[in-house]
Amino acid sequence: MTDQLIAPPTVEAPPASWWRNAVIYQIYPRSFADSNGDGIGDLPGISRRLPYLRDLGVDAVWLSPFYASPQADAGYDVSDYRTVDPIFGTVADAEELITGAHALGLRVIVDLVPNHSSDQHDWFKRAIAEGPGSPFRDRYHFRPGQGADGELPPNDWPSIFGGPAWTRVEDGEWYLHLFAPEQPDFNWEHPAVRDEFKTILRFWLDLGVDGFRVDVAHGMVKEAGLPDIGDTGEWHLLGAGESPFFDRDGVHEIYRDWRRILDEYPGERIAVAEAWAPTLARVANYVRGDELHQAFNFSYLGTAWNAHEQRAIIDESLAAMREVGAPTTWTLSNHDVVRHTTRLMQKVEGDAAGRKATAVDDEAGLRRGRAASALMLALPGSAYVYQGEELGLPEVIDLPPEARQDPAFHRATGQDGYRDGCRVPIPWSGAEAPYGFGPDGGGSWLPQPESWARLSVAAQAGVPGSTLELYRAALAIRRDNPALAPTDNLTWVSAPAGILAFDRSAPGVPGFRCTVNMGAEPVEIGRPGEILLASGPLEGDPDNIILPPDTTVWWSVAR
Ligand code: NOJ
Ligand code: CA
Repeated sequence: MTDQLIAPPTVEAPPASWWRNAVIYQIYPRSFADSNGDGIGDLPGISRRLPYLRDLGVDAVWLSPFYASPQADAGYDVSDYRTVDPIFGTVADAEELITGAHALGLRVIVDLVPNHSSDQHDWFKRAIAEGPGSPFRDRYHFRPGQGADGELPPNDWPSIFGGPAWTRVEDGEWYLHLFAPEQPDFNWEHPAVRDEFKTILRFWLDLGVDGFRVDVAHGMVKEAGLPDIGDTGEWHLLGAGESPFFDRDGVHEIYRDWRRILDEYPGERIAVAEAWAPTLARVANYVRGDELHQAFNFSYLGTAWNAHEQRAIIDESLAAMREVGAPTTWTLSNHDVVRHTTRLMQKVEGDAAGRKATAVDDEAGLRRGRAASALMLALPGSAYVYQGEELGLPEVIDLPPEARQDPAFHRATGQDGYRDGCRVPIPWSGAEAPYGFGPDGGGSWLPQPESWARLSVAAQAGVPGSTLELYRAALAIRRDNPALAPTDNLTWVSAPAGILAFDRSAPGVPGFRCTVNMGAEPVEIGRPGEILLASGPLEGDPDNIILPPDTTVWWSVAR
């Protein structure tokens, strides 16, 4: 009788939560696809392009705001949270988009803007019209000014977009706006505000959305008494430092309330926090088990391209999220930051948000951008991809001032101001603008560079080595390779200076290795395994690969 290996009884593992290692694609609606030729992208435009996103291989989409809005901050100034702005379509179009996405296996996350409304929101209009003492003033932060005639703002808080965070109204009172004057901050101590947002959540959940991206998730609760911050000198508003208006502990009570609502719905509805906090440990607070699901990792986004710093931030991120049992949520680009093909070639000082970009060599930027994307997509956890990064779009740095629409652009001292450069509409096809963004002859709300003809979807689809095919291949491997399913299984491998190398392994499946050259010189790396993916051309011979600078390789490794 031969020994028989008897397999232990297998216990079916519970299905892993979809969002823990999901790749979520950010759509910036005004710049994605224009169905009616007015030069502004819209919901029907997105619906028509959903098959592209299915073929790309993402799991879900996040849509930046499409709600009724005067567009003072490109829709982050909402005047009615339960309707769609006519420039983007109708609620029926939103429903069609959600149903269409679900039919293709894509989930839909929508933006929620709870820190502030538009100054054209009914509540704020009534607050203004009814004057001091109006109960609607309590739903925002109205205060008398300082100085003999109340001519000075109530405190010294600056607006993120520049200038003071206070605007005086005709009757002499001031109201708080951490962003543009058209974006008055809600008073989250007021029960009506809390109740209102619970019903807004339910409105969109009932319509079928799979979750929310929470705008300024760290901002809603302000320290009682609105104390001065004092002279902070070079103070980076969104990121570092303690402040009486960001990352107060009180915000977490709101998220515990919201989590209970999300959990009432079937299918794991999620929320992702846009929370800029001084440390990753503070960011982790937003994704504790009874709060939100994901929080963008802006510390990673802002980290320079060198092996030492990248390794440190990856370790720190995984450790911080591990503390609370959450996955890490990697992101390299979004509608507020310089596109990473450009940014990673530059020295970023302070927060990465909204900084002015300078010219870089496009080819070198693209090579590094592709290597960075392949690194990000190999990391354990979830990842967000910003529309156009799969095409390798660079930041547009030479938009004429008259074309720029970022509300901070004309407020010289603000932190943001240059965000239009990452918001230029997507090139889909053709030799001339608008490159299939909308009907021929229709324009685009920001001008597209001439060089984008060769970056269009049509120009890259099916072309071996194109950035689009790199993303498609990476996402397919990520989906199918079981070593990439766990969300906390990274082991560093020792490597020559400048090289970052790590393994992802899981029981009983072939190993996976990712190797990145972040140094300035090509490096011999032998042959760790079979190549699954390379972000750029390799040198050397099959048994002794030479990894050029700014190149990432994925390997299948024998165990
Ligand atoms: C963050 C959003 O991403 C940004 O675009 C917006 O300007 C601010 N929040 C204010 O809502
Ligand atoms: Ca349109």
